[in-house]
Amino acid sequence: MKHTAVVGSQWGDEGKGKIVDLLSEKADIVARSQGGANAGHTVIINGEEFILHLIPSGILHPDKTCLIGNGVVTDLWRLFDEIEGLEKRSISTQGRLFISGLSHLVMPYHKWMEKHNETMMGKNCVGTTLRGIGPTYTDKYSRFGIRAYDLFFPEVLKSRLEMNYKLKAATISEYGEGQFKDLYKLYDQLLAFGEKLKPMVVDGPIFMEKANRDNKRILFEGAQGTLLDIDYGTFPYVTSSNTTIAGALTGLGVPPSYIHKTVGIVKAYQTRVGNGPFPTELDNSQGEALREAGKEFGASTGRPRRTGWLDLVLLKYSVRINGMTDLAITKLDVLDDLDEIKVCTRYELPEDRGEFLISNLDVVKPIYKTLKGWKKPIKGMTAYEELPRETRDYIKFIEDYVACKATIISTGAGREDTIVIP
Ligand code: GDP
Ligand code: IMO
Ligand code: MG
Repeated sequence: MKHTAVVGSQWGDEGKGKIVDLLSEKADIVARSQGGANAGHTVIINGEEFILHLIPSGILHPDKTCLIGNGVVTDLWRLFDEIEGLEKRSISTQGRLFISGLSHLVMPYHKWMEKHNETMMGKNCVGTTLRGIGPTYTDKYSRFGIRAYDLFFPEVLKSRLEMNYKLKAATISEYGEGQFKDLYKLYDQLLAFGEKLKPMVVDGPIFMEKANRDNKRILFEGAQGTLLDIDYGTFPYVTSSNTTIAGALTGLGVPPSYIHKTVGIVKAYQTRVGNGPFPTELDNSQGEALREAGKEFGASTGRPRRTGWLDLVLLKYSVRINGMTDLAITKLDVLDDLDEIKVCTRYELPEDRGEFLISNLDVVKPIYKTLKGWKKPIKGMTAYEELPRETRDYIKFIEDYVACKATIISTGAGREDTIVIP
């Protein structure tokens, strides 16, 4: 079968949730491969808003099956809250939400460690979501981590918890809070979670292989965005997973031949939450207006998102790193009122830095091309021909610059506010 992957091309929050919901119609299985509850994927159906953090956005289609892959770090407290929240809204996850037994678990102490790390880093802090993501991945690589499967072996679980509490004693005594300061209370809670989780736990790679063999169509749902990738993003201001296409493979245990289409989600301008370089940032009233028009406040933490002009140098980089075959351009309607729209087409660098490298982003000066605004409401348009000429010019400019076609245009947050270009 030929499967499709969705990848964020900027610093996250490009509208992946909306596009995954849309593409889920043509999929049987929707699988998350990396990240954790740091993600916030918004889907709006008939004016009703759903925000998914750990569960794949495909869950909102009652006939789809969803998998949380082993590359995801799973916070069981949040997972069960999310399941309950959906059940309350009459969306049952029973029998169609699965999790890989190899998925590493986020523990309360990971959040305490993160608070400690961010505090100690002071002005150099990353500005994380404080969801325990970094410390959980760190434990995975240090081989201290606890996986979903471990919940079914009480003695193994207990000894691994004891080891972790020993390793982290100083942080736990300083930052630990609540009942889980006592490791045996945590142990009991985890065993209880294990019972609830049991029917959902599968062998991830085998699940995927069987789906492929049975001719099921798989949609890979990426979280975060290329510029937050641990290797290829704006390190150290990144998340702790591979948000680029390779993460979809390691995070789900499938070969590269599975993925035939990689759709890069790109917001029509640029946003970022947390710290780190942002060459095209508009730290002024124009940026404020963009934030208001685009309702740019974090879906996970509620933090205001930093805003700026679309950066085509970075988009081209993302298209290249991921081998994107298609673009989905979102939030074009947010630019409706602008007389002029700028896009960054190149950087000037200090002489000693040579050419553009992702590690040079803090010293570049963006050079812009100014395009004409369309000054008409495009919200809710569903046909390409309906779009004003200036909007089509804007789209064409992006496509030509990065040499990748836009096959989806989003003209509003709703499921129906979409143009699909065959
Ligand atoms: P994700 O993390 O990539 O899934 O994106 P988020 O859900 O965090 O943020 C995207 C926000 O933009 C959400 O509030 C969406 O409802 C909204 N959104 C998505 N597409 C559009 C669009 O085309 N126009 C407008 N106005 N809002 C959109
Ligand atoms: P979605 O999937 C936007 C950012 C945080 C911080 C950095 C590291 O909704 O696009 P972390 O908690 O991951 O260690 O934080 O990454 N970040 C995101 N920004 N969208 C996201 O997810 C993000 N997930 C993490 O703000 O700068
Ligand atoms: Mg988001």
